[in-house]
Amino acid sequence: MNKHILITGGAGFIGSHVVRLFVNKYPAYQIINLDALTYAGNLENLADIEASPNYRFVKADILDAASLEQVFDGENITDVIHLAAESHVDRSIESPLDFVFTNIIGTVNLLNTARKKWTNDLSAHRFYHISTDEVYGSLGETGFFTETTPYDPNSPYSASKASSDHFVRAYHETYQLPTVVSNCSNNYGPNHFPEKLIPLFINNIIHKKPLPVYGDGLFTRDWLYVKDHAIAIDTIFHNGVIGETYNIGGFNEWRNIDLVKLLCRLMDEKLARAAGESEQLIRYVKDRPGHDRRYAIDAGKINKELGWKPSVTFEQGLSETIDWYLSNTEWLQHVTSGSYQAYYQSMYANR
Ligand code: NAD
Ligand code: DAU
Repeated sequence: MNKHILITGGAGFIGSHVVRLFVNKYPAYQIINLDALTYAGNLENLADIEASPNYRFVKADILDAASLEQVFDGENITDVIHLAAESHVDRSIESPLDFVFTNIIGTVNLLNTARKKWTNDLSAHRFYHISTDEVYGSLGETGFFTETTPYDPNSPYSASKASSDHFVRAYHETYQLPTVVSNCSNNYGPNHFPEKLIPLFINNIIHKKPLPVYGDGLFTRDWLYVKDHAIAIDTIFHNGVIGETYNIGGFNEWRNIDLVKLLCRLMDEKLARAAGESEQLIRYVKDRPGHDRRYAIDAGKINKELGWKPSVTFEQGLSETIDWYLSNTEWLQHVTSGSYQAYYQSMYANR
């Protein structure tokens, strides 16, 4: 099993956890992490494994087809796990084209390269595309997204991910490319860039800055610990059926305001602040346009067919996540210096 796996977006939040898991668990595999190192990519996330003999980093953009071909040839790539993407909904509302380029055209570039280079026995290869539950749109008070829920994306981000999922499906149907797709709910955990709700609010609580809750705060998300997502990806990569889609979720729905209050309580305890102090920072601000009301995943298929389920409770995962941020202040300082300040200003100054 001499696999040479190209993991795209491996310097980002989820990608770095996937790279670490594969490098440590499968010493016989070669893991090639290809990442453009955008604002969201950070090699500090992988400092602990960067010297491993089965790991290599390549700085390249998935929009650059020539570079992709070079990497496939030079590294003899047998499999792809594709995570590289523009991933933040608010940024997609400001700059939709960035999402069209990376998420759609970048994915098609990768599909084309795999198709061109994998000319021998296709059963020796696998193209695994990582996607999101946001492609299914928004749920009402009840019900769950299943693998057969029709696509109904509402943001430029989810529209671009939906489009990329369709291309992956089309390359399987049309060219028999051996693809598999998973659609996951909201992740949280160490190394999460502080533009997303949980790490943004942890950082703001540390610095006693306002906590901008969008709209009425009653939007619901289904949260999954990032290391459990990485384990699900390992499971699907090895045992998922070609041509299939798997939904991954935490069985863990929270309304934003309840989650924010829990975060405030835990942080007050850990920072030895007075009970209720951080809740004073909550501010209701202008809503996100096109804001999906509720996401909730039915992860029954991956559970029944592949035996995966989350291993970490939310209380445990959130507590570990806060501890990670409190003991990695240097990481937080590095990612919130420079262009982050301009981003924060443009996103929140007029809300
Ligand atoms: P992230 O923004 O933290 O990381 C994305 C990575 O992709 C970064 O390292 C960045 O440098 C890299 N990248 C961006 N554009 C690139 C390009 N053109 N070429 C090469 N590399 C590029 O994202 P994340 O939260 O880790 O998400 C990873 C994947 O998982 C995405 O496809 C996302 O849609 C999907 N996903 C995320 C979540 C979540 O809750 N974060 C949930 C479900 C699915
Ligand atoms: O569901 C999976 C998706 O989860 C992934 O595909 C995306 O890449 C990931 O960013 C995430 O999208 P969300 O939009 O759900 O995550 P975000 O952390 O941006 O927001 C979570 C909820 O919190 C959402 O209802 C909006 C709200 N929110 C967010 C921010 C940043 C606030 O109320 N205030 C904020 O400042």
